[in-house]
Amino acid sequence: MNKQTDCFELSNGVKMPCVGFGTWQTPDGQVAEDAVLAAIQGGYRHIDTAAIYGNEESVGIGIKKSGVPREELFITTKLWNDSHEYAKVKTACAESLERLGLEYLDLYLIHWPNPPQYRADFVGSIQDTWKAMEELYAEGKVKAIGISNFLPHHMDAIKSVAKVIPMVNQIRLYPGFVDHDTIAYCRKENMIVQAYSPLGTGELLEAPALVEFAEKYKTTVAKLCLRWSLQMGFCPLPKSITKSRILDNIDIFDFEISGLDLEVLTNMKNFGEAGTDPDTASF
Ligand code: A2P
Repeated sequence: MNKQTDCFELSNGVKMPCVGFGTWQTPDGQVAEDAVLAAIQGGYRHIDTAAIYGNEESVGIGIKKSGVPREELFITTKLWNDSHEYAKVKTACAESLERLGLEYLDLYLIHWPNPPQYRADFVGSIQDTWKAMEELYAEGKVKAIGISNFLPHHMDAIKSVAKVIPMVNQIRLYPGFVDHDTIAYCRKENMIVQAYSPLGTGELLEAPALVEFAEKYKTTVAKLCLRWSLQMGFCPLPKSITKSRILDNIDIFDFEISGLDLEVLTNMKNFGEAGTDPDTASF
């Protein structure tokens, strides 16, 4: 990826701008609206939200205020854990579209594979849910479908019945926090890996080893982490509500990390929190 307008191509040919704007933990209301507007004005064309973030309405207002034509934007939202049933998926999607004020989504993801309320039969529930996702895709309500926080055994459950293999898996991913098995599975199945919390939710930014690396490349830790993501073939989704940082996080095309350093960054000790285990999560 050489410039902010470069895209990943999904398995169905849909183009996904290479850096997405994350909105997890962005407060609903003016903050989310302003952040999304600043992001789009600053050049982002890919916005990521979720029903559970509680900010879809404000994200939608920011999108509308930008005045950028809908077809130039790539908008993702996610199905929450209370709707892993065939009959609930379409309603949940319609409600997200309504809150966002959109006619269609570019990407709709199952947010988590194994919520407690469906855990007794997670395979059956994922398969049921995926069937409805495939129908949304066939109806054109969503231009691409995918998953988030899925590990190989969850992806197996989909693969055994899928007519359409997920086009994306969005996982927690940053230097030192790399699930090689999940990534290898995605690559084999032609799924693009999106990186959420690409800055380790901000925890990486002061890590001395990363500060040293950033100095070597005359950049910041944030930009180093995002550049690492792109060079590794991942689509980073940095979140910020600060205009200067929003602009910085997409200005990552003027340096190149060496192959050796990519490897060192990949294998760094984990600076962030441990991730959430989807099979034991309480939500
Ligand atoms: P803020 O939103 O207050 O600007 P992640 O994308 O990994 O979840 O990280 C998000 C966190 O990192 C937020 O706390 C955000 O702060 C902070 N952040 C985002 N971009 C930068 C940046 N370029 N420099 C420093 N902190 C950043």
